[in-house]
Amino acid sequence: MTRAVSVSDWREAARRRLPRVIFDYIDGGAYGEVSLRRNLEAFEAIQLRQRVMVDVSRLKLTKVLFGQPFAMPLMLAPVGMAGMYARRGEVQAARAAEKAGIPFILSTVSICDIEETRAAVTAPPWFQLYMLKDRGYMVALLERARAAGAPGLIFTVDLPVPGARYRDARNGLVRGGGLADRMARAVATLRHPAWLWDVGLRGRPHTFGNVLGAVSGARGIADFWTWVAANFDPSVTWADIDWVRRHWDGPILLKGVMDAQDARRALDTGVEGIVVSNHGGRQLDGVPASIQALPAIVEAVDGRARVLMDGGVRSGLDVLKALALGADAVMLGRAWAFALGGGGGEGVSAMLGVMRRELMVAMALTGCVDVEAAGPSLLVAGEP
Ligand code: FNR
Repeated sequence: MTRAVSVSDWREAARRRLPRVIFDYIDGGAYGEVSLRRNLEAFEAIQLRQRVMVDVSRLKLTKVLFGQPFAMPLMLAPVGMAGMYARRGEVQAARAAEKAGIPFILSTVSICDIEETRAAVTAPPWFQLYMLKDRGYMVALLERARAAGAPGLIFTVDLPVPGARYRDARNGLVRGGGLADRMARAVATLRHPAWLWDVGLRGRPHTFGNVLGAVSGARGIADFWTWVAANFDPSVTWADIDWVRRHWDGPILLKGVMDAQDARRALDTGVEGIVVSNHGGRQLDGVPASIQALPAIVEAVDGRARVLMDGGVRSGLDVLKALALGADAVMLGRAWAFALGGGGGEGVSAMLGVMRRELMVAMALTGCVDVEAAGPSLLVAGEP
């Protein structure tokens, strides 16, 4: 593979390196993948306003959010099973994020657990919470996140039930399948020897570290979605935010909000942040792109909480577009998952370097010298 210089290059590198079941889990979305495509197309449709003759010799990308310094307004979104993309993948990605000066968010369903990830870095990772039915276990998990020093909690609320992901179903990630299916998957990994050596053999154990002790069945990636459906709590409501607050004293960001009315309701609960997200088009297919939902939510929130967004961010240009539409920061999902799968921790570092340079070029050519000053004036009027 020639040198990867863009997220689409890392996607291609990941496609070659990873067994299909893993690549499809990262790349795919729900149903016909309409919202997944829409996330990308909506960014493409936004037009930046080119400006000239501004002194852009000094650009400021840094920002403080939730009391934390950000070297640029980016976070690595929680992404499940990253330890299957590269050896101890969460550790590698957390180190890359630290080097870039941005937060890493560890998923509930990560391979490396909170303690292993924490021990690998200086600044503790953030933690993402999926509410399992077993509340006793949830209390213990939040306590582990607190003990690890997690500066904030991302409470993901758009997965009371899993969206239907056809690729995962076809690849046996929904019902692990019989012996024949398992054998076929094992044989398929032989076509990916680099992965087999790095992850298959040296990257063990392949268990979901944070939830190992929770409930039966969370052993490995086969049957993943069956395990999710059996153990995630579909009865969660607004009242549960109080419950989380009783067990967590840091900032809480609600992830998966797509509606202004929900955003206003979220403010009543006192959350510190909202993440506008359609889960990368992996949950309810047919919803708008996250970037299309962002402006109405920014307006509804009206500065009373921080508003972040994710979904379809593939370049530094996209980052600036999201900031221009009112996001305080942006999260990367597949961008880092592909980079990790295609090139390990070095891939994630290189990808973040590209994002940073692209953001700087976009700022320079729109005459925006400080990310804190980004606003609608950076866009051609009427967009999106
Ligand atoms: C996710 N996402 C996710 N979100 C979450 O809160 N917990 C999780 O465990 C996961 N797992 C996960 C796995 C994979 C492979 C992907 C691609 C995504 C959603 C993620 O945090 C984010 O919302 C989207 O990835 C954003 O869209 P893009 O950047 O992938 O387009």
